[in-house]
This record gives sequence, structure tokens and C-alpha cells, in this order.
Amino acid sequence: MSQKESFIQEIQQRYSYKNDKIILGKAKLNGEIVEEAEISVALKTMNRHGLIGGATGTGKTKSLQIIAEQLSLKGVPTLLMDIKGDLSGIGASANLEDKNAIERMQALNLPFNPKASHVELLSISDEPGAKLRATVEDFGPILFSKILELNETQESIISIIFKYSKDKNLPLIDLEDIRKVLQYVTDSDEGKAELNKNYGTISPASLGAILRKIVALEQQGATKFFGEPSFDVLDLLKVKDGEGIVNIIRLVDIQNQPNLFSTFMLSLLNKIYSKFPEAGDLNQPKLVIFIDEAHLIFKEATKALLNQIETMVKLIRSKGVGIYFVTQVPGDVPDAVLSQLGLKVQHALRGFTAKDRKEIKKAIENYPTTTYYKADEDITQLGIGEAFITALDEKGIPTPLAFTHMRAPNSRMDVLSSDEINTITGNSDLVKKYVELIDKESAKDILETKLNSENQEVNKNIGKSTSETVSRRKNTPKEKDWTDNRMVRDMSRTATRKLIDWIMKLLTGYLKGKK
Ligand SMILES: Nc1ncnc2c1ncn2[C@@H]1O[C@H](COP(=O)(O)OP(=O)(O)O)[C@@H](O)[C@H]1O
Ligand SMILES: [Mg+2]
Repeated sequence: MSQKESFIQEIQQRYSYKNDKIILGKAKLNGEIVEEAEISVALKTMNRHGLIGGATGTGKTKSLQIIAEQLSLKGVPTLLMDIKGDLSGIGASANLEDKNAIERMQALNLPFNPKASHVELLSISDEPGAKLRATVEDFGPILFSKILELNETQESIISIIFKYSKDKNLPLIDLEDIRKVLQYVTDSDEGKAELNKNYGTISPASLGAILRKIVALEQQGATKFFGEPSFDVLDLLKVKDGEGIVNIIRLVDIQNQPNLFSTFMLSLLNKIYSKFPEAGDLNQPKLVIFIDEAHLIFKEATKALLNQIETMVKLIRSKGVGIYFVTQVPGDVPDAVLSQLGLKVQHALRGFTAKDRKEIKKAIENYPTTTYYKADEDITQLGIGEAFITALDEKGIPTPLAFTHMRAPNSRMDVLSSDEINTITGNSDLVKKYVELIDKESAKDILETKLNSENQEVNKNIGKSTSETVSRRKNTPKEKDWTDNRMVRDMSRTATRKLIDWIMKLLTGYLKGKK
């Protein structure tokens, strides 16, 4: 058997799957595309996470686009973190006359079927799209402390503050709510007394330090992210005409706010973990998340946040959710995450410096060995839109390394115009659902009233009991209007909090068990 024949045989055997798959391109051998050597990935293994790597301009974002649009065609919804703002084109059809795409598909002998994917645009800032928000209570004390990078003492204070707020029926919705509670127990005599009596003495210095960190988070633009309605992650699972929706989060304006991004990521992964049911053994993933330019996030994130993200990444696999990191060098992604990846699409790396060569070595260490290629040399020679690929077969065994000529996307390789974006957001039910910030009475309003009445009382020098103050407040019309809703809200809040506490307990146990 010739080298080419044995190559074809191996690729065909190892890249054939029992269940459905998506086609990524065809393998090359000795510089030529081998038409019979189709390279695909099994849908069943797409919850096993992946990496799309390569230097700038080598085709990473296009590979992301190809995988996302093919998943959509199979009915799998996706969530794309669009950090550079170049992913919106997936919502428009490719140009039928695009010479680049036509020639590529002809060379591969694959049909070129230009088509737009159904997209939803989402945002955590001022970018157009459905607004993604979360409440402080959604996070629970442990995650909230992680975001603020609190030390152990401060973390235990936050737990007390959450408990205190719950006991006192003070809903913690946005950052101002928790800030007000902290101020109340520091500045007001009544608050101070209540806290000291029931929860122990807390040093004002620690409270001050926590307050400063909350203010710092607010200055990073996080104020917009906290609030109601809290985003329901089940809204990411929508399918239209049998095709999975491609949800694009526009993050262009938060590149300089890494803490805000980490906060958002953590909230998202946490919500997915608590809301999605355990998936069992599925034939295709429920949701696939892509993080383009992931190095921008990992570089800036704190150790505590990275650890938390790593843990969550491990856990959501069992929910049928895959995460794909798109990044320039493998070293950008934490080792703990890197070692767990299923699909690897490695575009060209440059070997200019000693550091570059170290990265190349690191990338190759994670590949199965090959007799068909000199991986360490070829990796610097891959053309634009070419990549070394290895996936997992349905038994979880890595497929042979394949020098792959990628297919072209069916969707547009450029961005949408602002008119096109407006049409999408204008027709979106999701945008309508989340457009209005609901400002129900929460801790800040309740405490404002309390503090005001306390001040008035001090001014008038008349002593009034707490119960009188509270019952007077209850008679204000604002609260009367939604007492019923409030009860429902409190009940569901308590349930969420319990769930998150339970998960954190489980999680800690899981980590201990792993050690
Ligand atoms: N699979 C592909 N099919 C057609 N053109 C491609 C493909 N991959 C890359 N290209 C071309 O290369 C350019 C750069 O690709 P891109 O994915 O934006 O690179 P990166 O994200 O690595 O910086 C694209 O604009 C496109 O012209
Ligand atoms: Mg890119």
C-alpha cells in the first residue's frame, strides 16, 4: 500500500462516526489536498471543549464561524463572545460570487451553499442587543467575594451581610443595594446594634475595605450589569426552523474592563450550571460557547477568578455544554483547562523567538504522534485557513493529527452594517424581553427610608421603636402596590440562593475528592 493509500485508509477509518458530525475540511498530504480524506468532528463529543489557536490573521475567527454555523444547521444553539466585533457577519449570507470562497470549496470538492444563520445580539454594556443582567443575590456570597477579590475575613463578612439582608428582607439586586447595607451597618446606630447583637462585631476597617472594592467594580462599568430582569440562560437554547440560534454577545467596548468580563463569565457559567438539567449521554451538545480572543481575558483575570472559571468549565460539560477557546498561543489558556480539551484546531504559529518555539513545543505536546507530518516544522508553514486538527472519536480517543484545508463559511466573511444590526435587534423578542430595567423596591430603597426616618427622629430628638418605623413604612403606597409580587419574588430568591449554596458545597466536595 502506498503512503497515500494508507493515509486515506487511516483518516477514513478514524474520522468516521456512528452518529452525526460536522465537516471542517479535507486533509493535505505532501502539500496536496486529498479529496477522500474528509476531516470532521462528531457532534457527540462537542461538549468536551476545544481550542482554536493560531497567530493573528491565520483563520481562527473563520474556523469559529464555520463550526458555529454548521452546529446551527444541526439544531445546536451557540453563544459567541465577540470581543473584536468581527463575528456579526454570521447573520448574513456569504456573497455567491465570493471568489475566495468559491475557489476554496472547489479545491475541496465540497458544495458552496451561501446562507445566513439565525442570530440574536446580546450585550452587557451599551452595544446594541438584548441586555444581559444578573442580581447580586444570583452570585451568592462566595462568588460575589471572588469577584471582589476579597480575603477570607472579608469573605466571611460578605456571608454575614448576605445572611443579614435575607433575615431582614432586604433584597440585594444591584451594587448600590449591597453598598447601602454595608453603609447601614457601619453608619446607622440601629444597623450597627442589630448586626453586633445577632452576628458578632465586625471591624469598620474591613467594611470600609469591602466598600472600596465595590466602588472599584462600579467604576469598571459593572453597574450596568447588575439589575433586574436577571437574564434567563434557558433563553440561549432557542431553535428556529430547526436551526440553533447563534447568540452573539458584543463585547467590543469592554476590552479594558477585564474584571467586568470575568464577572459576567462567572455569572453566566454559574447560571448555566444551576439552571441546566444534568444531560447524561447526549448525541449532540445542548449549547456550545465560543470565546474569541480568549487571551485578552485570561491575561488580565485574577488567580481566584481563573480557578473558579476552571472549575466551572469542568462542571458544565455534564450539562451538555461545550466551551471553545479561540486564542493566539496555547499558553494563553490555563493548563488545567488545556489538558481537558477534545477538539483542537491549530492554525499557523510563528517560530521567531525562543518563546514562540516554546509555545510550538507546548502545542505539539498536546497532539497525538504522527508519521505523516513533521508537526514542529509544518505548524509554521500552514497557510491561511489551514490548521492541524485532532478531535475525539465517540469513544473519547483522539483522532489522528490532520493537516487540514478548512472549508469556507456559508455566511458572510465581513461584519453586518449598522442597518442590518438594527433590523436584527428591532425584530428580536429577546431584546424586547430584557430592554427595560425593572427597579423594584430593594435594599437601597428600604434602608434609605430607614436612614431618613432615623435622622428625622434624631433631629426631633424623639425615640421611636423599630417596629413603629417599619409599620409606618409598610403603609406607604409604593410598597402596598406590589406586596404580593414581593412575596413570590422572595420565595424564588431564597430558592436560588439555596441552590447556589448547595452547588458550592457540592463543588467544594468535588474538588476535595479530586485532590
Ligand atoms: N476557512 C476560510 N475560508 C476562506 N477564507 C478564510 C478562511 N480562513 C481565513 N480566511 C481568510 O483569512 C482572513 C483572516 O482570517 P481570520 O479568521 O479573521 O483570522 P484570525 O481570526 O486568526 O485573525 C479572513 O478575512 C479570510 O479572508
Ligand atoms: Mg480573529
